[in-house]
Amino acid sequence: MATSKRQILVTSALPYANGSIHLGHLVEYIQTDIWVRFQKMQGHTCTYVCADDAHGTPIMLRAQNEGITPEALINKVGTEHRADFADFLIKFDHFHSTHSDENRELASVIYTRLRDGGYIKTRTIRQAYDPEKEMFLPDRFIKGTCPNPKCGAEDQYGDNCEVCGATYSPTDLINPVSAISGATPVEKESEHYFFDLAAFETMLRDWINEEHMQPAIRKKLNEWFEAGLQDWDISRDAPYFGFEIPDAPNKYFYVWLDAPIGYMASFKHLCDKTPGLDFDTYWKNDSDAEVYHFIGKDIAYFHTLFWPAMLTGAGFRKPSAVFCHGFLTVNGMKMSKSRGTFIQARTYLDHLNPEYLRYYFAAKLGNGIDDLDLNMDDFMARVNADLVGKVVNIASRCAGFISKRFDGMLADTLDSFSGEEDLFISNNTDSHFVRDQYEQREFGMAMRAITAMADRINQYIDTKQPWVIAKEEGRDRELHVICTTGLNLFRQLICYLKPVLPKMAADSEAFLNIAPLQWDAVSRPLLNHKINPFKPLMTRVEQDKIDAIIAASQQNLTPVSKHTKQQKKGSAMEPIADQIEYEDFAKLDLRIAKIVKAEHVEGADKLLQLTLDIGGETRNVFAGIKSAYAPEDLEGKLTVMVANLAPRKMRFGVSEGMVLAAGPGGKELFVLHPDAGAQPGMRVK
Ligand code: MSP
Ligand code: ZN
Repeated sequence: MATSKRQILVTSALPYANGSIHLGHLVEYIQTDIWVRFQKMQGHTCTYVCADDAHGTPIMLRAQNEGITPEALINKVGTEHRADFADFLIKFDHFHSTHSDENRELASVIYTRLRDGGYIKTRTIRQAYDPEKEMFLPDRFIKGTCPNPKCGAEDQYGDNCEVCGATYSPTDLINPVSAISGATPVEKESEHYFFDLAAFETMLRDWINEEHMQPAIRKKLNEWFEAGLQDWDISRDAPYFGFEIPDAPNKYFYVWLDAPIGYMASFKHLCDKTPGLDFDTYWKNDSDAEVYHFIGKDIAYFHTLFWPAMLTGAGFRKPSAVFCHGFLTVNGMKMSKSRGTFIQARTYLDHLNPEYLRYYFAAKLGNGIDDLDLNMDDFMARVNADLVGKVVNIASRCAGFISKRFDGMLADTLDSFSGEEDLFISNNTDSHFVRDQYEQREFGMAMRAITAMADRINQYIDTKQPWVIAKEEGRDRELHVICTTGLNLFRQLICYLKPVLPKMAADSEAFLNIAPLQWDAVSRPLLNHKINPFKPLMTRVEQDKIDAIIAASQQNLTPVSKHTKQQKKGSAMEPIADQIEYEDFAKLDLRIAKIVKAEHVEGADKLLQLTLDIGGETRNVFAGIKSAYAPEDLEGKLTVMVANLAPRKMRFGVSEGMVLAAGPGGKELFVLHPDAGAQPGMRVK
């Protein structure tokens, strides 16, 4: 079918430049990459750009903690990200950074046009300020006691209480502390810049009803409209790592303002070095080109409200569609460091072939926003059965005969399938179905259709029994035609799998001695053609490799420091302390404590912050157990604490007691896990 050539620009969300790529991220990059490769195979002009999202307070603070400049941090992380993506065969046409000249330029253009259009307002707001660190505190960097009189839970974040669910402003918190310095924040006024989102409500309401959105997202958007669109605060005060607002010294664009502009900036950079690729053709207001953003459902608000409004206000086109996907779970649960299922891209690559994961995600992806699960047993079974057992098997069953008996030459005809269904033709019919599934992002449907084809082809070979024919006199021609047919059908499957398995496809093209497969190439059979000797195209997934990934992911969490190594080596027991009397022991008030909340402490390498319920009251305790436990695994567990220890002011806040733990320092383990019968508050004697 002749379709007209489309001009398509595709993006994935820009990963933050302060952390490593993990398997959760890869759902998105693999999904996008498959779709892009599919479009390219159709002969369309499809361009895939991305970038690192390099700005914001967390990146600034992390660089400070590491004692390097933010630029050095984002360069380091950028190099790592590029290598991870390349090794997962994610082929960007360009990968940029939001901390780039193009982005500074475009952010300035968009802001200036919005301002001149009357969509930017300023207003003075009161905000928490850390007098020690001399900076305004984002909500997530302030903690304190919940202001709800019925609750009073301690150690709650600046904007909502996780215990009672109340939402409030950080200034309402009782006894607030800065999570950065531990200082008590003061209130300070500052002028902020706001984007008038509500001015675009009518446009947005129309736009979301025009099929630019999945139904589930449209539903969410309608709820947001009902709640009312608010002005969006787009400025941050110095110190901040980002772009200074052109007409406002010491004010910076909030990271989420210039992040989506980074899509345009990355594309701009590519256009500037690629003849024939024109920025305006894609971004001008009435463009016929298509623009698609692939994102996770957590960032839909930014992409379906702020972004189209900003673009419209600045005279650019809006996206053709925003495609959201769900979140990854591993073995049915949220990825967890202590379970070893928070798996980084690099850890996976150290042990397994990236194409296994690409295939597995493809097999599980649809076009909705449901979460998807990486079940390790299912992963191994599916890859081994479908790819190794079904697809590769077809080639290995036919190739040997062609090499040994026919000098690598394919026959001059395909099997006529006397009376049977013509597999070649019917697989070609399936090609339309598979193509439509790819286009609709129903990759799971496409994979099922392809494996069903593989089943039919294997049945054909089973019926023909080439290994029997090969032993019989005078049946060479038959053998030749059967194996030629099998390899032609294999070529079809590889063509349909190529967006998912680019490396296996390239290896198969080399084996079949053919030019890179385009989608329609397979309608013409490959006959009278010399192929190369067959080499195994994919080996089986092995359980020990999966185990190694899980173990390594747990190790990531507990790096063996020099200090602990030495201790282990000598295994010298710490000397027993001076003897004490019973009265001394009795002074200790040990209590059963329930861990109601456990959290990371921004800027602390070893500490977790625990909220302990000891019956009548809750305590805030900092414990050096971060490298041994993930917060989510502690919540709800019982432990034992020293309840009458004098409170101690630490850098991150006040610690009101200690939990009993053992270890070399920094990676302590709890020594006691009370039975379920223990109740918070019980005294331990
Ligand atoms: N920097 C922003 C995006 C700016 S786009 C203009 C951001 N970065 S992120 O690194 O946190 O996430 C990048 C993408 O990965 C997002 O689309 C996010 O939804 C996706 N995922 C991150 N963790 C994920 C899972 N566990 N599962 C699936 N997708 C996940 O958000
Ligand atoms: Zn509360």
